[in-house]
Order: sequence, then C-alpha cells, then structure tokens
Amino acid sequence: MGDTAKLTAGGGDYEFPVKSGTLGPDVVDIGKMYGKTGMFTYDPGFTSTASCDSGLTFIDGEEGVLLHRGYPIGQLAEHSSFMEVSYLMLNGELPSQDELDLFTYTITRHTMLHDQLRQFYQGFRRDAHPMAIMCGVVGALSAFYHDSTDISDPEHRKISSHRLIAKMPTIAAMAYKYSIGQPMMQPDNRLSYTGNFLRMTFGVPAEEYEVVPAVEKALDRIFILHADHEQNASTSTVRLAGSSGANPFACIAAGIACLWGPAHGGANEAALNMLHEIGTPDKIPEYIARAKNKDDPFRLMGFGHRVYKNYDPRATVMQKTVREVFDALKVNDPVFEVALQLEEMALNDDYFIEKKLFPNVDFYSGVILSAIGFPTEMFTALFALARTVGWVAQWNEMISDPGQRIGRPRQLYTGPTERDYVPITQR
Ligand code: CMC
Repeated sequence: MGDTAKLTAGGGDYEFPVKSGTLGPDVVDIGKMYGKTGMFTYDPGFTSTASCDSGLTFIDGEEGVLLHRGYPIGQLAEHSSFMEVSYLMLNGELPSQDELDLFTYTITRHTMLHDQLRQFYQGFRRDAHPMAIMCGVVGALSAFYHDSTDISDPEHRKISSHRLIAKMPTIAAMAYKYSIGQPMMQPDNRLSYTGNFLRMTFGVPAEEYEVVPAVEKALDRIFILHADHEQNASTSTVRLAGSSGANPFACIAAGIACLWGPAHGGANEAALNMLHEIGTPDKIPEYIARAKNKDDPFRLMGFGHRVYKNYDPRATVMQKTVREVFDALKVNDPVFEVALQLEEMALNDDYFIEKKLFPNVDFYSGVILSAIGFPTEMFTALFALARTVGWVAQWNEMISDPGQRIGRPRQLYTGPTERDYVPITQR
C-alpha cells in the first residue's frame, strides 16, 4: 500500500493515493475526489496541478535543471543538433547514425508546401504579424493532408508529426518574405534543417546564399533550447485541443495562438526593446531602481520565471551563443554590453537575490536573433517553429496513452443563482 493523503472536509474524512514519478514532487491523485466528496479542487493557473503523466521533459526550477528524456539541456545544446533532439523527443532515445540519417532524410523530403497553400499568403495584409499567418496556414494544413489525419493510426500520427516539423521553417520563412515583398524561396534540401531555414529567410532567387556555419550552429542551438518545456501554456493548449480528437494540424495551430501572447512567447522581443531603451551602461542603475519600485509597473524583462527560482539553464547557453554569433558576424552591438552589465548588477542586488529573480531564456535570445538579422516580429515565429517538436511529441504521448480522456476542467461558479426570465417590456 503506497502513501495516502488525508482530507477532512464537509464533515467527512477521505484518503487519496499519492503517486511518485521518477523525479520531482509526488502528486496526490484526486481523480476520484468529486465522486467521493462531492467537491472539486480549485487551482486557477494550475500552479499546483499536474495535468498528465509525461516522460518527455523534467524541470527542477529550484535547482535550475532541465532534462529532455533524461539528458541535460546544456549537454544537448553543446553536443547535439536540432534534428537529433527532435528524434529524441519523438522516439525516446538518441538515434544511431543510421537512424538519424533516415530521420533527417524523411524530414527533408517533407519541407515543401502544397503549392496552393502559397496562395493563402496573398489573403493577408503585408503588415500581418507572422504569428497570424502561422496560425492560419498551419491550421489549413489539415485541409491539404487528409492522408495523415486519422489520429488512431500511429503511422498517420508519425507522418503528420514529420510534416509539421518539416514544413514549419518553410511556413515561417514565407511569412517573412511576404511581409517584405520578396519572392518566396523554395527549400533547398541539400542544406541542413537550420541552414535551409536561413536561406529561405535571407536568401533571394537572384543570388547564391552562403550559410555562415557559426550562425547556423547558433540558430540550431536556439531551436534546441526552445524544443520543449513540459506543460507550459501552449503545450497544455495543444494537449487540451488534442484531447477531443482534433487533428494534429488544428492542435498545433491552437498552440501557436497561445504562444503568441507576451507573457509566453513574446518576452524576448520585450527584453530586446528594454535593452535598446536602456542604451548605455550608465543608465542601468536607473532601470534597476525602477524595477524595484513598487509604484512603477516596470519589470526587468527577461528576468524571473514561474518555475525557475535559479538561473534558467537555457540562459547560460544563450549567453555563450551571443559571443559566438557576434564574433562570427563581427557585430559590435552595445546592447550586449548593456545586457552583461545589467545581469551582473541585478544578480548582486538584494531585491533580485531575495526574490530569486535570474535571467531567463529570453534575456539573451532577442540579442542573438536580432544580430542574425531577424526582425522582432519574427522572434515568436521562431519559437513556434522550434516548439513544434515539443508540441507534436507531447500530443503523440497523450494520444498513445490508453487512459487518455477529453480534458474538461471544472469551475467554481460565482454567477447569479436561478431566476425567472423577465419579458423585455417589464425590464
Ligand atoms: N522585475 C522586477 N521584479 C520582478 C520581476 C522582474 N522581471 N519578476 C518578478 N518580480 C517580482 C514581482 O514584482 C513580485 O514581487 P512581490 O512579491 O514583491 O509582489 C515577485 O518578484 C514575484 O513575481 P510574480 O509575478 O508573482 O512571479 P510569477 O511567477 O507570477 O511571474 C514572470 C513570472 C516570468 C511572469 C515574471 O517574473 C515576469 O514578469 N518577468 C518578466 C517577463 C519575462 O521575462 N517573461 C519570460 C518568461 S520565460 C519564457 C517562457 O519560458 O515561456
């Protein structure tokens, strides 16, 4: 008999099983709580609620640990590639060389879009946000790939997962090209996943495009750092959408919509804008004082995290990557110096120490993406591109779970009690 949690409420005593995972806090299984007690639990924002079992990603926010299938993010960022991490997330183990070659070949063969999909872009204004285009075009994939939308068929699930991972760079790059009025570039399958994306974004048909290896490596690493982050808002959205049996393209479009918000995917844009606003290191103390002032709504963007109460391990890798990109592109942007000094001052300030506020992944990512040449509106689209791997892996995990049920939260009703309809003439 395992551990149990006791609840005394409403005049009764109840016991609920406590379950343990391989790592992380135990959970109290309250699945039968309503049946036993007639009560619901109440947890807006899901701050204490585990919504599923998952073997994909583990985070220990107190210790600053992030593991994918058990492998520390620092090791994956240092030694792996985005294709290899994608294979790992989908299949559970690191691939052999042959398995990786076959997987890369398969993804590469799915990079093109159905030609009619290109016409969708014409329906958007040129100044449409790329995330608006991504939501629309990814959702529309379900109308083009009927042969892979039977979610009860594992082979269909696999093909649609591969299609989503493969087509996302093409969709994102085309959104960018449309916004600047340049011809859309078709994929070049001789290039790597990330090299291909760089060429589709920054290349033009009139010229050869040279992929800069250091930039390709840095962007590939940024994709690895964004591949998955357990049950965050957009991933939970994908799972909830998928729990009704919706097709994967529709589910990922729902994830993109959720990621779009500034509290989730939009923070790196805000962090970069803040660094530009600060401008020079001598202004930093003024901004730190503002962040500490209770009467000022200003926050240090790129600092703090709901889960990490220690250095976000992704930020460590990002900081190193900034240097590599700046060296490779011979960029000398004062914004990096501002970021480094701001980080140092904040980390030595009692306010930030007491509240356990550390740089998060977004503190440096905007600096790197902008040095590579991406406009700020594209930052969230890049996040969506990389997170697609996590979304499809989580979606597959959920659908393969024989105990999976439709997600249907309860509520604490606070509206009017029952009352009689009043005819309009008497109101
Ligand atoms: N600057 C100054 N003070 C801060 C900051 C900050 N960046 N973040 C939190 N605090 C203070 C906050 O004022 C509060 O103080 P008090 O206890 O005196 O009221 C305390 O720290 C706890 O903050 P909270 O808002 O209750 O914490 P949370 O877990 O709800 O919020 C957060 C986490 C990420 C929304 C928040 O830290 C924040 O707004 N950071 C800036 C935005 C940002 O960088 N977001 C990117 C998150 S990483 C991306 C991802 O993984 O999707």
